[in-house]
Amino acid sequence: MPRGLLITLEGLDGSGKTTQIDRLAAWLRKRKPKASGVPEPDSDSWDAGAPEPALSLSKGVASETWESGGIVVTRQPGGTAVGDRIRALLLDSRSARLAPMAEMALMFADRAQAIAEVIQPALDAGKIVLCDRFTDSTEAYQGGGRQLGSAPVLELHRLVCGNLQPDLTLLLLPSLESSLARARRRNHRTAEQSGLDEGRFESETDAFYRRVWQRYREIAAREPARVVLIEGDLSIDEVHKRIVAAVAERLRSPLT
Ligand code: TYD
Repeated sequence: MPRGLLITLEGLDGSGKTTQIDRLAAWLRKRKPKASGVPEPDSDSWDAGAPEPALSLSKGVASETWESGGIVVTRQPGGTAVGDRIRALLLDSRSARLAPMAEMALMFADRAQAIAEVIQPALDAGKIVLCDRFTDSTEAYQGGGRQLGSAPVLELHRLVCGNLQPDLTLLLLPSLESSLARARRRNHRTAEQSGLDEGRFESETDAFYRRVWQRYREIAAREPARVVLIEGDLSIDEVHKRIVAAVAERLRSPLT
């Protein structure tokens, strides 16, 4: 059985990752699968009979991980029962005094659980895993934003995650201003609708987010073969088109 494919989506809060991951999952499910279960990118035949599951990673929805048609969609932090509890701890504004090192360690604890429980078994079964955030988030937010540096993040990744690398990373970087405005509006709405408090990161300063943004750009420059950077305030359709082009390309010529 060939190893599946790990595709990660990255970007600032409010960069539209959740919408794009839902659309990418739908696109992948509609491709005609090859015998291996990995969709055939060049085929024009659509699997019209496949139902569209009304599932998404939308805020406040309990199920963090779902699977349909050999496509597994998950997110970090969260995605497992243990991960949900770590997520609540990490994102709740009441965790205001969490030390940066503790924050980084919790991100990796969540990731280790997700790899063991969801990601590795799916890859071993030849499935495509779409993961909303992965270690690049830790490098950007804790390494850059919290100024812990990239080295400890990469070191922990080797140790805790067995150095599992995404086959492809889609990095969405609309302008800093529009990302921040969207994230703050959205979190306000979530708190009102579901009572969930996930506002700890969104209450960070603009300087914090500028450092996150900068570190993301450095990662993209360092690893151009893995990271596809989609920048600017583009329409949802345009971003989707670019994502699909990058994924189709990777399906044709995997890195490994
Ligand atoms: P989430 O509500 O999932 O944000 P988004 O929908 O924008 O992805 O919250 C995840 C938050 O956690 C987000 O602010 C980024 C932060 N984060 C880190 O700081 N480090 C990490 O390693 C990960 C995975 C997330």
